[in-house]
Amino acid sequence: MCGIVGYFGKNEALPILIDGLKRLEYRGYDSSGVALLHQSKVLCFKAVGKIVELEKKISEDKSPHPPLLKHALDPEQGGAKIGIAHTRWATHGVPSEQNAHPHSDCSGKIWLVHNGIIENYQQIKKHLIEKGHIFKSETDTEALAHLIEDLYDGDLTEAVKKALKVITGTYGIVVFHADEPNKIIAAKKGSPLVVGLGENETIIASDVSAIMRYTKQAIYLDDGEMVEIDANGPRIFDSFNAEITKDISEIEWDINQAEKGGYPHFLIKEIFEQPETVMNSVRGRLVLEEGMAKLGGLDAVADKIRNIDRIIIVACGTARCAALVGEYMLEEYAGIPTEVDYAHEFRYKKQILNDKTAVIVMSQSGETADTLAAVKEAKEKGVLTLGIVNTVGSSIARETDAGIYNHVGPEISVASTKAFTSQISILSLLTLFMGRQRDMSLVTGQRIVNEIQALPDKIRKILEADGEIKKIAEKYSKATSFAFLGRKYNHPLAFEGAIKLKELSYIHAEGFAAGEMKHGPIAMIDENFPSFYFVPEDSVYEKNVSNMQEIKARAGKIIAVATEGDEKIKDIADDVIYIPKTLEMLTPILSAVPAQLFAYHMAVLKGLDVDKPRNLAKSVTVE
Ligand code: F6R
Repeated sequence: MCGIVGYFGKNEALPILIDGLKRLEYRGYDSSGVALLHQSKVLCFKAVGKIVELEKKISEDKSPHPPLLKHALDPEQGGAKIGIAHTRWATHGVPSEQNAHPHSDCSGKIWLVHNGIIENYQQIKKHLIEKGHIFKSETDTEALAHLIEDLYDGDLTEAVKKALKVITGTYGIVVFHADEPNKIIAAKKGSPLVVGLGENETIIASDVSAIMRYTKQAIYLDDGEMVEIDANGPRIFDSFNAEITKDISEIEWDINQAEKGGYPHFLIKEIFEQPETVMNSVRGRLVLEEGMAKLGGLDAVADKIRNIDRIIIVACGTARCAALVGEYMLEEYAGIPTEVDYAHEFRYKKQILNDKTAVIVMSQSGETADTLAAVKEAKEKGVLTLGIVNTVGSSIARETDAGIYNHVGPEISVASTKAFTSQISILSLLTLFMGRQRDMSLVTGQRIVNEIQALPDKIRKILEADGEIKKIAEKYSKATSFAFLGRKYNHPLAFEGAIKLKELSYIHAEGFAAGEMKHGPIAMIDENFPSFYFVPEDSVYEKNVSNMQEIKARAGKIIAVATEGDEKIKDIADDVIYIPKTLEMLTPILSAVPAQLFAYHMAVLKGLDVDKPRNLAKSVTVE
């Protein structure tokens, strides 16, 4: 959702801020803005729509700025060296220039960008209006700018500290004051901020993607911390105002991973990366001789895990579909009762937890507000929390007691693909780990290890069928509704396939457990309502075939994802996409790929913005 970039250093701030905003585009936004501080004067630009609109506003600027401010935009004059920038995803007030950040106070000297939500902004705003403050936007953020102004007494750091004590809610902020042009201030609570340490420059952002081009050294701020950045670099203070020293982390993600590398879209690049990303997720974690998974991130809690007798996995959207596959795996192979909860429902249920319950939290971004709230609830109840997270240093990664990173690099396209197959891969490792701690035999463990190791080549083989899948998409491109169907391990894939198709192509799609069709949904089937059916050769194959016959008998068209060599399926299905044979529990990792490619081609055929579908955000940081 919203993105923040702040710069203080020796270089021209504007190109770095704009580049940072572009790197954060994938998170989803509807307007953007930038404020530059130059010789105690401020220049601000805002635009609705894509970052190019903001760039246009800046390059076509005809305002009669005094010469000094003109220098702020002139690279030949060195340009401004301090600035803040923001991409906004509307929450309070429509997407408009007035509502876009940065926001300022009445004097126009204090400028602020903010992620998160200030819950008591209406009371603050009312109080400040009574005192004579004039507001220009509908946002919660503007209230904070005016509050800082109200509390300002010549020291921005002190005013920000005082203001943050008054507000409730969540924030990641970066702020400057034109009268104190030698520093910028940032603070965080419940919304991520990372400080990038360059050579004579500091870049602060809500996401490492905006930083990694300039430096690999980063400090992740924790809730309640504040940072003051000046020419000497950052000074960090804890919630008690004591100056603290924090560990510097190395950003492991590579800048090439955050670029398209010759593909027309990030989505297709990420789909094609899956042989490597599944390999990266399991690399160094499989021990064939022991039929076991080695999970360093769980070492500290391995004994606790041995005693766990119930698992709850919490996640949202696609991550939840992966969790549902995990439920089948953990119950069948580790013998541990497992249930999956929507993260956003977890807090509202009476949870019956004890010291033998583990809550597994799964999130690609590590910043999903609903999922983070579920972790906090679980911790409050004192149960063991384990994270399966892709983004190193993210809030969920840091909040959980222990965890396993996905290691798939940045997932830029809004629709999750490589993170999904990685999440199931990690759950298979966890199943091995917990299964071998219990009754799973060495032979079974070794068979799983061998099959996991063979997955990347099998995914490669499926990707070779991309051209055929594109043709199938062309054939069905006029359909307005789809059913996605599967049983047992591929039952969650029905949900995931439907999510992919609807979010990318805006075509109505619903996922059903295949056995449920005859209990109602089959009434919808006719020659214009096709089904996308996951029917690998597994323990429920015959049952699936019967359900397919029922659809066929009602003139329903079927696209089947079936196992290589299954010729008989062609008698029932209208189109078949083959996947190689693997262990039943691992089939979802393979069957996900044709569904992703199908959804991708359907969206491209409709000429849609594949990487940034409408109304969606990559990282959903509101509840
Ligand atoms: C769909 C998709 C979303 C996310 C969900 C959770 O393609 O990407 O459904 O899976 O918003 O996001 P994370 O995994 O970041 O918590």
